[in-house]
This record gives sequence, structure tokens and C-alpha cells, in this order.
Amino acid sequence: MNVLVTGGAGFIGSHTVVSLVEAGFNPVILDDFSNSEAGVLDGLEHILGFKPKTYPENCRNGDTLRRIFHEEKIEGVIHFAAFKAVGESMQQPLKYYDNNVGSLIILLQTMLECGVSNLIFSSSCTVYGEPDTLPVTEETPVKPASSVYGNTKQIGEEILYDSVAAGNALKIIALRYFNPIGAHPTAAIGELPRGVPNNLVPFITQTAAGLRESLTVFGDDYPTPDGTCVRDYIHVLDLAEAHVSALKFLLEMKATNYYDIFNIGTGHGASVMQLIQTFERVTGQSLNYKIGPRRAGDVTAVYADAYKSEQHLGWKATRSMDLALADAWRWQQAIATDKNPA
Ligand code: UD1
Repeated sequence: MNVLVTGGAGFIGSHTVVSLVEAGFNPVILDDFSNSEAGVLDGLEHILGFKPKTYPENCRNGDTLRRIFHEEKIEGVIHFAAFKAVGESMQQPLKYYDNNVGSLIILLQTMLECGVSNLIFSSSCTVYGEPDTLPVTEETPVKPASSVYGNTKQIGEEILYDSVAAGNALKIIALRYFNPIGAHPTAAIGELPRGVPNNLVPFITQTAAGLRESLTVFGDDYPTPDGTCVRDYIHVLDLAEAHVSALKFLLEMKATNYYDIFNIGTGHGASVMQLIQTFERVTGQSLNYKIGPRRAGDVTAVYADAYKSEQHLGWKATRSMDLALADAWRWQQAIATDKNPA
């Protein structure tokens, strides 16, 4: 079965392409490479033994989508393509609303027009904001978004809900990702942030590799056991496999009109300090870090109750944080020699 993967050259997208092939699906990538490198396709070829069919185009174009749906006989879509830099989203809100919300609307319109009904949407645990209770279930109230990026995910979920509630022939799952880390164990694909990384693990691996002088821990005065923020770090391959489980779930169901939301996390919270210590233990590297002030917009703690995903999708995370950090480090070492981040 042919599956369109928008943003398939990105971090989560590329790992999902691998998981799809392993599960017997035929992924077709649509990616404009605005935040990814063509070298990802070489990495995929190394792992898969072939280069997945790729359309190097923007997905916010109905003509492009229509053409691909017909040419490739697409039966399902996994929609990763979006901008994701929280800080930039505050500086350039229209760029984010236009791309993230605009692409979803055009995608849904074209799916309806072309009779493609199955969709997996990338949402984020950012929709829970600072939750009142932990772990967060899918029933935990959504909080007003603290960033434009976060708001594009909330609006995205509302658009999906309303489109299905209107009775359209659409079967849709929104996956609320917690914090993806790690890389493919071959180190042929992984996370490739441009410029200074915003996320913790790429910053750690670049610091250990000597590309950054030191890591700043953003605050150690939070009301957590060691004072640093707590997150649910999940191996990107576990996250990738959740998409395969969700897609199979949609394909097997009898309903023709369906929308639901699932948390995709491990169910375990880890603090920034725990993550640093685990990285040092697993890799044998000693990390140069210092404690700095809190980062605006960070929540104290968020981690998933992943029971619903296990119960309905038959999916749960199986890989450890040790493995994820070892894989992230192996990937960093593989790229340190030929990629020199600004
Ligand atoms: C961030 C985004 C979130 C997005 C997610 C995608 C913010 C506020 N949130 O989540 O919307 O969905 O990335 O992966 O940007 N940290 C440090 N030093 C660093 C970098 C991070 O101490 O140099 C800490 C942060 O304070 C946080 C933890 O590490 O406690 C994880 O940070 P990060 O990887 O940026 O993820 P989130 O902030 O959880």
C-alpha cells in the first residue's frame, strides 16, 4: 500500500519511512527540503537498500498533492511537514500559520477531492501546556498555547476534529508526541538541526563532540526532585513505529468517519540532570555544562500516560533512554566529521 509521507526527509519523518518499509508499506516522500538535507535520502538508501520515491516539492499546493495522489495511487497520508522552531514562530507568526495550518487545510481538501481517507497528523504534548496533573492522559485539558508553534498544533487538531464531525469520509489520528530523541542504530539517519540546536539532546551531543563549548541547563530551581525540568524522552524509532500502528489501526477499522488523539510517549519522566548523567554514563563522555536561568515558555514537568495507545493501537515504547542516547551519540560522531553546524 502506498503512503504519502509529507516531511519524510525530516527527523521523525525519515525514521517513519524506515518503519513503514519494514512493515510492508510503500512510502512516497513529499519534502521541499526547507529544513532537511538531500543526504537523508542516501541514509535511507543505506538502510533500506533503495531510495524511496521522493517529490522535492512543497506540500502546500493542491496541484502537487492531486498529481501525487493519482500518480502514486496513495491510500494514506502521514503529515509531518511543518515548521517547528518555537522562538522563530513568535517572531514570524504568519509564516507558521500559513505553512502549518495552510498545508493541513489544503491537504484535507485534496484528500476529500481525491478520495484519500486515512491520515496521521503530527501533534505535540505542547498542547497540554503546564498540566495540573501528571502523567497526562488524552483527557487532560488542553491549555492555551504558549507559542505560535504550539497554537498551530492546537488549531490543527481542531481542524481535524471539525472536518470529521462534519461527516466527511475521513479517518484521522492525531499523535501527540512527547520528546523524540535518538537516531537509527546504523547512524545513517538522525536529527540534523540547522544552526544552534533548540532541543536538549542535539545540544548535548554537539557539546560532547566539541562543536559547542558548553551546555546551559535552563534552570535548577523548578519544583522537581533535582530542580530541573522533567520530560518524556522517547526513542525516535519507537515514535516512528507508533505511526505504523496507527495506520494499521485506521486501515483495519470498519468506520469510514473517525477522529481520535493518542499520546505517544514512554510514560516515564526524566529530568535534564538525569538525561545528562545517563548520557555521560552510556557514552563515557564527560559533558561540559553549567546551570543557567530558566528559559521563557518552558513547563516544569510533562510526561505521558500512554495506556490508550497501548490499548487501542497495540503500541508501546520498548527502547530505553540509554539506547536512545547511545544512538544519538553514534549519529553525532558519524556526522561530526562532515557537517559543521554554524
Ligand atoms: C520543545 C518545544 C516544544 C516542541 C518540542 C519539539 C519549547 C518551549 N518547547 O519542547 O513545543 O514540541 O521542543 O521537540 O521550546 N534544555 C536545557 N538546555 C538546552 C536545551 C534544553 O536545559 O540547551 C532543557 C529545557 O529547559 C527542557 C528540556 O531541556 O526542560 C527539553 O528541552 P527541548 O529539547 O527544547 O524540548 P521541550 O522544551 O520539551
